[in-house]
Amino acid sequence: MMIGRLNHVAIAVPDLEAAAAQYRDTLGAEVGPPQDEPDHGVTVVFITLPNTKIELLYPLGDASPIAGFLEKNPSGGIHHICYEVEDIRAAAAQLTASGARVLGDGEPKIGAHGKPVLFLHPKDFTGTLVELEEV
Ligand code: CO
Repeated sequence: MMIGRLNHVAIAVPDLEAAAAQYRDTLGAEVGPPQDEPDHGVTVVFITLPNTKIELLYPLGDASPIAGFLEKNPSGGIHHICYEVEDIRAAAAQLTASGARVLGDGEPKIGAHGKPVLFLHPKDFTGTLVELEEV
């Protein structure tokens, strides 16, 4: 397999409105409206840059996967990066065979862009939570 484009960088933020305003007003970026993603336990703001996207993540609901991250990183921080792949099941099979751990049950889930995604264990990728998205 070979990873493709950087699809997005996801940043967990403690104040979604303030972070969105900073990207819109201070950095002059194209900032979308907040979108609730109940299946993923997050509210997301998408920021479109010329070559990639930034996703601001804010916890939604009691069991949000980013609540713990924000507890450890109260001012926010980079949560994961997402690379594009052409065939996510083939990628998962190859990565698993090479010893990398796919999080959850190993099955791709439908991500925030309506495409199959999965996450790889950060301890297997230089401390970085990596998301793969099939495009
Ligand atoms: Co993502």
